[in-house]
Amino acid sequence: MLQSLLMGRRAAAADISPLAYCLTAAKAETPALEGVLSELEALEELWRSSETGCRAVLPEFFRHAFHAATLDQILFLRDRLNWRHSPVQRFIAALCLGSLHGETRSPNYFSNQMPRTIATKPDYSVRYWAAHGQTAPERDVFTVLRSRARLRLSSGASPAGGRAACRDARSVAGRWPDLVGRVRLVVTSPPYLDVTRYEEDQWLRLWFLGHEPRPTYSQISPDDRHTSPDHYWAFLRDAWRGLASLLGEDAVLVCRLGATGCEPDELAADLTASIADTLPGFGLAGAPRVSRIRGRQTRSFRPGSRGCLYELDATYRRCSGI
Ligand SMILES: C[S@@+](CC[C@H](N)C(=O)[O-])C[C@H]1O[C@@H](n2cnc3c(N)ncnc32)[C@H](O)[C@@H]1O
Repeated sequence: MLQSLLMGRRAAAADISPLAYCLTAAKAETPALEGVLSELEALEELWRSSETGCRAVLPEFFRHAFHAATLDQILFLRDRLNWRHSPVQRFIAALCLGSLHGETRSPNYFSNQMPRTIATKPDYSVRYWAAHGQTAPERDVFTVLRSRARLRLSSGASPAGGRAACRDARSVAGRWPDLVGRVRLVVTSPPYLDVTRYEEDQWLRLWFLGHEPRPTYSQISPDDRHTSPDHYWAFLRDAWRGLASLLGEDAVLVCRLGATGCEPDELAADLTASIADTLPGFGLAGAPRVSRIRGRQTRSFRPGSRGCLYELDATYRRCSGI
């Protein structure tokens, strides 16, 4: 989204996860810094005069993950921010999501020691903190948010022309009837084959957006992790069919994928077959590129976690004469 807008394109982005939607919509419609700072001031004033939240009903994890004073502010904002409908409040929610968890040596994160990329599971996290004698730092959420807003918006809002939707890829065309036959470039990175469960990995950020205070599975995105290649390729075929009507005559589609338990050549061949079956006339525009993945941030927290070892970038366009 952001890259497209910075390049002067108009952009439409869709993801089934409310987390991806919130972060992307915040980039599609960035408010001015002054608007964010005055909204933060109003929220802080309201917070000072409000009752403290309902910390007591939360699972034990939260007592160890956040300092009590920090958690009160997080609960207030969780309850208060109308991120679905207000662009300014959505931008503030996106800043909260970016700071919700991360490494304690940085002053920009609210939580006890955690990776910033994914939220570790509750029981594991509590055991990890106990074993390492780690306690949650006290952070003033409003101070962190002001500093993050200044950082993100100091060079101005992103250009206009972006829109985001929280939508299953299979039905994305129905969301933007005005774009039918007009999309010139698709850049997509679908869930990788048998690699990760975003819903589980992002459970704490999803909680902040109103979901359960614990990891959930297939409540938000049942296609996150297909362990069966047949189901996986059936899903991707459905996703390509879902966007087919949006593609213009000269459209280019770029897809980034990864997998465990399958070599890049095999993955590229299956991807190309899925596209050939569903997007008539589309073929590979050059050899796919493979990049090896090294040094994942989660490794130091979850030694032995088996991840994806490579990523594949493949570009497709309509082949003339077909
Ligand atoms: C590899 S990530 C890519 C995220 C993001 N597009 C990016 O490039 O940073 C895969 C994304 O697919 C989303 N997803 C899973 N199932 C989906 C579906 N049926 N329709 C749309 N998005 C889906 C997940 O929520 C996740 O954000």
